[in-house]
Amino acid sequence: MDPNASGLAKMLAEAGQSHLLQFWKELSPEEQAELRLDLQGMDFQEINGFFKKAMETSCSKQEKMDSRMEPVPREVLGSVTRDRESLKDWEVAGLHCISQSNVAVLLLAGGQGTRLGVSYPKGMYDVGLPSHKTLFQIQGERILKLQQLAEQKHKIKCRIPWYIMTSGRTMEFTKDYFSRHNYFGLDKNNIIFFQQGMLPAMDYQGKIILESKGKLSMAPDGNGGLYRALGNQDIMADMERRGIENVHVYCVDNILVKVADPSFIGFCVKKGADCGAKVVEKTNPTEAVGVVCKVDGRYQVVEYSEITLATAEKRSADGRLMFNAGNVANHFFSFSFLRDVVQKYEPKLQHHVAQKKIPYVNAEGQLIKPDKPNGIKMEKFVFDIFQFAKTFVVYEVLREDEFSPLKNADSQDAKDTPTTARHALMSLHHRWVLNAGAHFIDENGRHVPAIPRDGAAGSVTDDGNRNLKDGTDLPIKCEISPLVSYGGEGLEELVKGREFHPTLMIDGSGVHELVKNGV
Ligand code: UD1
Repeated sequence: MDPNASGLAKMLAEAGQSHLLQFWKELSPEEQAELRLDLQGMDFQEINGFFKKAMETSCSKQEKMDSRMEPVPREVLGSVTRDRESLKDWEVAGLHCISQSNVAVLLLAGGQGTRLGVSYPKGMYDVGLPSHKTLFQIQGERILKLQQLAEQKHKIKCRIPWYIMTSGRTMEFTKDYFSRHNYFGLDKNNIIFFQQGMLPAMDYQGKIILESKGKLSMAPDGNGGLYRALGNQDIMADMERRGIENVHVYCVDNILVKVADPSFIGFCVKKGADCGAKVVEKTNPTEAVGVVCKVDGRYQVVEYSEITLATAEKRSADGRLMFNAGNVANHFFSFSFLRDVVQKYEPKLQHHVAQKKIPYVNAEGQLIKPDKPNGIKMEKFVFDIFQFAKTFVVYEVLREDEFSPLKNADSQDAKDTPTTARHALMSLHHRWVLNAGAHFIDENGRHVPAIPRDGAAGSVTDDGNRNLKDGTDLPIKCEISPLVSYGGEGLEELVKGREFHPTLMIDGSGVHELVKNGV
């Protein structure tokens, strides 16, 4: 139907978006139908409102952010190194919650993996481990193992529901991948997929950008799109039905993620927290992680792009960076806090503005790929709700044990790549094997030293990346299936007192040396 007759043209004119129909007559009937459907599904007044507010906030925010920031106070901080005496208690408490089936995990997997440059969801990425397991598989198996550990300890059947947020672009891929892999041994009824919203990219005047003559340029609405999606896809109701009280929210790209980490959950529960964030110490001022801090007295994550270098470089009396609580995108929320957020606070969250180079069709209908930013994408961030917490806590863990994100494709000098992720995991598993009382031997039958020469075996540089300048510092090839060990436990009976040639693989079928005489 003609857009004038259907009222579409009028609606767009009222919203100042009439240009979206400029190529209407050139479109095929199918393209017209698709465009009409897309446009009819959108609330232009709301989108215009988002744009106006986001632009206002982004201008005022940048000016003053630095002066409004304060570091996290010690009293809300728990640390795996400084609070060793409490660790066991926290772990026991967390495992007890898991055994009661009141813990859920929620995976944020709606991102587009632009930096990594893949056309499929990042969770399906194979970083080249000996097993070739993908990020999704590693996470799924960790969940399965943790369920088993809780069941063994408490002699009770339990489950950890896995909520997976995807976006329009990743949903079908993701669901299909899980189904083809038989849900990694988990009960498929406990894996719940849901979809976040999308928003159009806009130019600086607030006009929606066309990526082709009949198609709007759309992108997911940020990982903070979570809260709206939780409400409008009935996920809170599902959690309530299942008796969920504690939720661990995490990002897809960290190969070391301790999904539903009992210590983290136990720490948050024992502190009576409604909201918590896991952090690692940021040691390099220019590392691309957000920092957890207070802004105007309220907790927040300030992204690396939002502060000046001078603030990022500020140091405390002990020589550490003042803003050193590096956000590893692992959050704890109590169910009741999450429900309040979804019901009350979500509409108060404002979109952040990301200036981007957005391909567009010009008035002549040609596709232009700009070489400088020409518009914005609007995103909410998952941590924007910290400000509403009544009891907020921060849990500091060791980077080498828990944080190695996959952001970029492999290339000289690139950080957070498939190679750094693979090495981080193998290095951790190497340490687990050593701690369980085994040794590695090289091709000449000599013990490989536990602490390798100058920066070898996964040593960590200032910003957490593996030191990989030459061939001497490759980590020992060693991989332990999550189905065998969640966090290094249970290995002694398999390896104590033994010597291994790399590559060592420990999985459900036993302990295997895959390649003799090779590192
Ligand atoms: C994120 C954190 C940053 C932290 C870093 C650690 C946010 C906003 N920023 O940054 O503070 O230091 O991780 O690695 O959390 N996603 C969606 N929907 C979207 C966009 C993203 O689900 O619309 C998901 C992605 O799939 C991914 C996660 O959110 O799992 C993080 O997204 P990404 O864009 O990689 O965040 P970073 O900028 O790296």
